[in-house]
Amino acid sequence: MAVDPVPTEPNDEPVPTEESKVTLARVMGVMDANNYGDVHGGVIMRAVDEAGAVAAVRHSNGPAVTAFMDQMAFLEPVKLGDLLTTHAQVNWTGRTSMEVGVRVTVQRMGVEGEIHVSSAHLVFVAIDAEGQPRPVPPVLPETELDRLRFQEAQIRRTTRLERREAIRRLRAQGLD
Ligand SMILES: CC(C)(COP(=O)(O)OP(=O)(O)OC[C@H]1O[C@@H](n2cnc3c(N)ncnc32)[C@H](O)[C@@H]1OP(=O)(O)O)[C@@H](O)C(=O)NCCC(=O)NCCS
Repeated sequence: MAVDPVPTEPNDEPVPTEESKVTLARVMGVMDANNYGDVHGGVIMRAVDEAGAVAAVRHSNGPAVTAFMDQMAFLEPVKLGDLLTTHAQVNWTGRTSMEVGVRVTVQRMGVEGEIHVSSAHLVFVAIDAEGQPRPVPPVLPETELDRLRFQEAQIRRTTRLERREAIRRLRAQGLD
């Protein structure tokens, strides 16, 4: 797949969710440790951001930056030696923004199957050569699960914008 450095023409052709899906994996080493000997949460957040960015760049066929990260739960500690895997996909698209969902799992020596350690939702904005938002093609959710994720993402989008607006209004009022 070729990604344009910065597309000059907007593309309205819907892009199936499948096309943005990405899986990245890395073995956790001593450089990833926190003071307690497990993996530092920031390492996991970085991996989430990286996988999310790849999905957003794939979907928008050009540069995209992280604009917002929803709350992120750490469900289980990640151990040194674990194979940390991030699965990302574009769930929803607006005019210039995309919501990307990232699921983080680990495979651990001596443990069968995968352990779900974290999930997060991030908003990426596609940018042009001047760093300004540029239009993205609409996402086309093709499976029932992807259609559900699209609808859930719309709910999160509404909540994010309402929260941002409420804080703006409060700040505009100033302190009593
Ligand atoms: C992201 C950025 C380009 C947005 O620029 P902006 O001038 O604020 O853009 P706009 O207000 O037009 O918003 C662009 C889109 O982002 C969405 N957006 C912005 N802030 C948001 C938030 N807090 N939550 C949800 N969506 C948000 C807008 O709704 C809009 O979406 P839409 O076009 O799909 O409707 C700009 O804020 C930026 O460059 N931020 C720094 C990014 C960065 O350095 N990231 C870390 C390294 S990658």
